[in-house]
Amino acid sequence: MTQRDQYVVIGNPIEHSKSPWIHAKFAIQTGEPIEYGRILGPLGGFDKQARTFMASGGRGMNVTVPFKLDAHAFANTLSPRAAAAGAVNTLSFGADGVRGDNTDGVGLVRDIEVNLGVSLTGKRVLLLGAGGAARGVVLPIFDRSPAALTIVNRTAEKALQLVDQFAEAALASNVRFAGGSAKSAEEGRYDVIVNATAGSLDAALPDCDAAAFGAGTLAYDMMYSAKPTVFMQHAERLQARAADGLGMLVEQAAESFFIWRGVRPDGGAVLRELRQVLAAKV
Ligand code: ATR
Repeated sequence: MTQRDQYVVIGNPIEHSKSPWIHAKFAIQTGEPIEYGRILGPLGGFDKQARTFMASGGRGMNVTVPFKLDAHAFANTLSPRAAAAGAVNTLSFGADGVRGDNTDGVGLVRDIEVNLGVSLTGKRVLLLGAGGAARGVVLPIFDRSPAALTIVNRTAEKALQLVDQFAEAALASNVRFAGGSAKSAEEGRYDVIVNATAGSLDAALPDCDAAAFGAGTLAYDMMYSAKPTVFMQHAERLQARAADGLGMLVEQAAESFFIWRGVRPDGGAVLRELRQVLAAKV
């Protein structure tokens, strides 16, 4: 049997990661000879684990909580989107060293546009949260030329920092760009509202004017849980269409696979299968 190229996902915790399942499906779909495992990284021990895996011939790594900043520091070179995000979720090990990339933002955009069928071009987009998850999606959203992007955060100062960081890029993409507290949202309904806060983890609803939601709004929670999150329930009560972050998870994996193998798997097909598997477990 031919030797398969080795990849892993590293995180802590890691036992519930769906990445090995997703990449195994991509491998079957594309015929690429890869094997994809998981590593529980000890806190504070990222570099050692990454070096050991590299030394054993590993070709690439996905990186999840809490190691995305460690991976950013570990990489020798960064893609522009990883540099802008300040975080890395995809490492490639090659003759020219360790390359870091960030596929989360593209994953979100592809899920919204391809799987959910909502084009961002010309739309008004509201981003809730200003942490690492939010920072990682700003440039990929600009790339789709929305009319406006507003960043709202519990701590207004952090949203303002992101507005500062990305002001030039907004100008270059001709996007109306602002942010701050919940009060800084534009009046009326947004076309797309993305919850990038960690609020869904503890069932907290981020502060946001109810008038931002309505029929025709896509309310997207980056979190995934077996039941609709509080944010999704809230959005549906306000007539919006709600989506969870499972498709983003699949699409960020598809983009990583593409970086490593040069072949783009069909994320939509794997997402449908994953939903069936998860539904059968409930
Ligand atoms: P991540 O990398 O997942 O984005 P983070 O950098 O810790 O994690 O950022 C968490 C984000 O969720 C922040 O925008 C945070 O708001 P603050 O900047 O005000 O802390 C937001 N967040 C977390 N819990 C929240 C809650 N209960 N309500 C509203 N926002 C919350």
